[in-house]
Amino acid sequence: MTSDVRIFAPAKVNLILRVLDRRTDGYHNLWSLMQTVALEDELHIHVQSDATGVHLQCDDPTLPTDGRNLIARAAGVVLERAKLAVGLDIRIVKRIPVSAGLGGGSSDAAATIVGLNRLLALGWSASEMAHIGQVLGSDVPFFFFAPTARVRARGEDVAPVRLVGERWIVLVNPGFPVETRWAYDRLSATRNGMTALSQGIAALSGKPQVTWEEILPLMENDFEAALAPTHHVLEKMKRGLLSRGAEAALLSGSGSTVFGVFPYEESAIRVRDEMKRQHGWWVSVAKAGSSSLSPHETVPLNSLQVG
Ligand code: C5P
Repeated sequence: MTSDVRIFAPAKVNLILRVLDRRTDGYHNLWSLMQTVALEDELHIHVQSDATGVHLQCDDPTLPTDGRNLIARAAGVVLERAKLAVGLDIRIVKRIPVSAGLGGGSSDAAATIVGLNRLLALGWSASEMAHIGQVLGSDVPFFFFAPTARVRARGEDVAPVRLVGERWIVLVNPGFPVETRWAYDRLSATRNGMTALSQGIAALSGKPQVTWEEILPLMENDFEAALAPTHHVLEKMKRGLLSRGAEAALLSGSGSTVFGVFPYEESAIRVRDEMKRQHGWWVSVAKAGSSSLSPHETVPLNSLQVG
């Protein structure tokens, strides 16, 4: 049995995020079109069959490495479900900003499940892994169906979609986090009832394939209006992207990242450099759609230094 795996966990953006009615379990029903981008955390997982316990190491000292970490929780859920007692050393290289609307923690959790499924030869399908992952967070199931998927209900109703065409995404983060639960509270406090899905978005529901040209005019996120009164900088970031030629610009998830869509890599890189220089924001360019949890790469035994 292989005992090491290296797996890349991509960030996501929400090309569409509609927050619909509040459910009896306290969560909201969603309608989202989610898309991975090639900005990735890196996980190295090492299994020790003669040990027990999960040991995490992360290059970002601000992240907890105990049971609060979603990777540790994902590993615990997998081992419990598989009824296995083995030791796991997991090393994380963090590149996706935290609490930024980019799904970094959820993607790490999904990557942990995919990595362990492979390493421990569990034979779980994407749907089984998504079912296991949904207890860890609403964004987790999506990553098993990346790069593009239509996501509904609390986040567990996921249908993969083929998005035709190439685009580069400029991600702009102001340097502060937004807590998801707080953003949902702001949404409830600021909006007067719920608007129905637009006809254009409703028409996407049954389509297995869409083009960027179809999606660009439909892009919207309900959290933009909810955060506007308290976070003026988000609107400034969006205007900055649009004035520099983005085909569309939008808040991702519940923030704090705003992203712009560009047809060419060169223009995306130019905009990244300008916005970094002028504002000091964290800005990154990542290709859309080129990244998903699989295929993943197995590295030879002993080639990793874990622990
Ligand atoms: O599932 P996750 O841990 O990402 O959710 C964080 C918070 O976001 C939840 O506690 C809930 O307040 C809110 N949420 C929601 N409806 C969803 C997803 C999240 O209300 N579909």
